[in-house]
Amino acid sequence: MKVFVTGGAGYIGSHVVKLLGEEGHDILVFDNLSTGHEWAVLYGRLLKGDLADRDLVRDALDTFRPDAVIHFAASIQVEESVREPLKYYRNNVINTLNLLDAMLETNTTRFIYSSTAATYGIPETMPIDETAPLRPINPYGASKVMVEQVLRDLAPAKDFQYVALRYFNVAGAASDGRIGQAYAEATHLITRALKVAKGEYKKLFIYGTDYPTPDGTCIRDYVHVEDLALAHLLALRYLMDTGRPDIMNCGYGHGFSVREVVEAAKTITGIDFPVEEAPRRAGDPPALIADSTKLKRVTGWEPGHDDLRHIIKTAWEWEKKRI
Ligand code: UFG
Repeated sequence: MKVFVTGGAGYIGSHVVKLLGEEGHDILVFDNLSTGHEWAVLYGRLLKGDLADRDLVRDALDTFRPDAVIHFAASIQVEESVREPLKYYRNNVINTLNLLDAMLETNTTRFIYSSTAATYGIPETMPIDETAPLRPINPYGASKVMVEQVLRDLAPAKDFQYVALRYFNVAGAASDGRIGQAYAEATHLITRALKVAKGEYKKLFIYGTDYPTPDGTCIRDYVHVEDLALAHLLALRYLMDTGRPDIMNCGYGHGFSVREVVEAAKTITGIDFPVEEAPRRAGDPPALIADSTKLKRVTGWEPGHDDLRHIIKTAWEWEKKRI
């Protein structure tokens, strides 16, 4: 299969490219390398480009003629989105419209979209299934809801086939240690904790200890990046087989509090790194836990890394290799 992967040099994208490559697919990665890295693209070709450049995207699609597009390229930090909403609407909405335009112009109609648990806001029931109302509480989540709406409208209008995967908290690194998370500034909990353990940052702040959760800190459903990568491949197969538009959660169905993650990180690293309690971070919902029954039922997804310690261990192995 020929697959065009935007953001394929980034954290999640590069793991999906790795899996696609291992299965022998033909890949063209389109990435502006703003947060991604050339070394992370283990298979296929990399075209350095920005989705703001509509002509470049269209020409790339026109030349490559993919069977499907997987779209990772986006800004993803909840707290930053509260401070810089326009960056999120421009990058996540306008640039996605550019990509969709280019796809229609080149008759490319299969699309896997990176959506997020942040679309749900503060859910009333837990675990969350796909029928829960979408009430995002930050611009990041709102930008993803907007594109989901676009896709819902586009499907019947243009016979456009898509699967949107709503990711929960993606973490960990490739089991063979070749790739992992590598942002210039680590903001995600597990990576940040491990970098504190390494001495890259002085201490770890726990943002908010007064949430309505058992220990007062936020709860998240941490899913290993390789399980998420597998979900993309299965979603793609499902789309090729059925052509049916759909939206599916991807998480394990149980969560861990920030304090639990911190304790696990201390145990695995063997380092009692400094931790300080701090005020809440803007835009954070108290708890997000996935009901992924649909993904399992529809695509046959069976996670192989549902173990917080294993997730942290793979991330730690990766961190230790980095300078
Ligand atoms: N946290 C800390 N200290 C830190 C970093 C994070 O206490 O140094 C806390 C946060 O406040 C939050 C939890 O750890 O309560 C998880 O935070 P992350 O930054 O790791 O992840 P988020 O839940 O904010 O967001 C991530 C992705 C989003 C995605 C979301 C889905 O960045 O793109 O998961 O649940 F939408």
